[in-house]
Amino acid sequence: MSNETLQAVRGMNDILPEESELWLWFEQVVRDWLAAYGYRNIRMPLVEPTSLFKRAIGEVTDIVEKEMYSFEDSLNGDQLTLRPEGTASCVRAVLQHNLLYNAPQRLYYSGPMFRHERPQKGRYRQFHQVGVEALGFAGPDIDAEQIMMCARLWKKLGIRDVTLQLNTLGDAASRQRHRTKLIAYFEQHLAVLDAEAQRRLHSNPLRILDSKNPAMQAVIEAAPQLMDELDSEALAHFASVQAILTRHEIAFEINPRLVRGLDYYNRTVFEWVTTRLGAQGTICAGGRYDGLIEQIGGKPAPAMGFAMGVERLLVLLQEAGMPLPKPKVDVYIVHQCELAAILASRVAEQLRDTDMRVLMHCGGGSFKSQMKKADASGAIVSVVIGDDEALANEVSVKPMRGGEQIRVCVQELTATINKFILQE
Ligand code: HAM
Repeated sequence: MSNETLQAVRGMNDILPEESELWLWFEQVVRDWLAAYGYRNIRMPLVEPTSLFKRAIGEVTDIVEKEMYSFEDSLNGDQLTLRPEGTASCVRAVLQHNLLYNAPQRLYYSGPMFRHERPQKGRYRQFHQVGVEALGFAGPDIDAEQIMMCARLWKKLGIRDVTLQLNTLGDAASRQRHRTKLIAYFEQHLAVLDAEAQRRLHSNPLRILDSKNPAMQAVIEAAPQLMDELDSEALAHFASVQAILTRHEIAFEINPRLVRGLDYYNRTVFEWVTTRLGAQGTICAGGRYDGLIEQIGGKPAPAMGFAMGVERLLVLLQEAGMPLPKPKVDVYIVHQCELAAILASRVAEQLRDTDMRVLMHCGGGSFKSQMKKADASGAIVSVVIGDDEALANEVSVKPMRGGEQIRVCVQELTATINKFILQE
């Protein structure tokens, strides 16, 4: 057997305690922000039937064609996939449990997603999203509300230099008309298309518009525009979204080439983009998906949602100089000898009963070395228990940021420490 140190899977990261403090802080800010808009948490499994993602995201998308971690359940032969995104699972759960029966739903989830992409800064194989879904809402008001929510979060987090890109993909009939025209157009320019574009020509011509191949840009620029096919309802919807955003002074750029990499979108789509993260500049993206619920087997119902990439947001936060929150310790307990150890653990539990954060010294050592640890812990006070104190059922309390050490009986300890905590 090899005794090489085992490493995490490429593109899948450990989040170590220091960094995790920032994650915990961020997650709390996000929970409060979502509560302010009435979103409720939903938790779905990490693994779903492969067919769910094929049906929801689309067979001819990068995610389904080449990025999914799919495998066969060796016990029963089921085809399963580690979720590459949350919208499909969320809609599946909502339908399975009939959540849309009575009222529309504002839901959110957060957690790891899995895509077999080429790892680089801001792009991982296991990454984390906070996903926000409003199901059963048809009007442009919810589209605008979701976008405004994002703007509020950036402000709360102190994130600047993000721009909002907006587009509409229209509805199914206009998309079909546009698709037919696109195929006819690209067929006339077949020689210019690269192999990937040729392969997608009949299955997903819209994705050709997304190509970064410089040799194809001129042909792509002159391709038929979806905007020209949109019907009046979709245009009115889009105009309303823009009007609400303008009223709330949310700046946006219309980007007619914003098509998104998942097939379920229609009408409003948007991305929040920063120039600070190199090629992986999209920190948050989403749109309307009015056809998906029916496509997954539910009664037709409109919906709108988005997801943000947590790793990308945290890089921005760190770059903005956001200080790492430190874990807080109120009390460090230093003790020596057997009797003192018994009193120390009793005292520690007594203090935790009042919600104090207590670090009990474990592992022995001299008083001096234990006091060094107490210092390094950042505790407000240390409680020192030696033979002498233990026999008298007393303890010494030492304020760590200066001041006299005092000796008190165990019954007075909580009140004494509380005074020091209040002075902080
Ligand atoms: P998406 O654009 O595929 O949309 O992903 C949303 C966000 O997740 C991206 O903007 C990015 O910040 C982050 N992200 C995606 N892939 C990676 C990766 N490999 N590494 C790091 N971050 C990544 C969706 O997933 C849709 N489900 C969003 C949605 C919800 N639409 C409607 N509702």
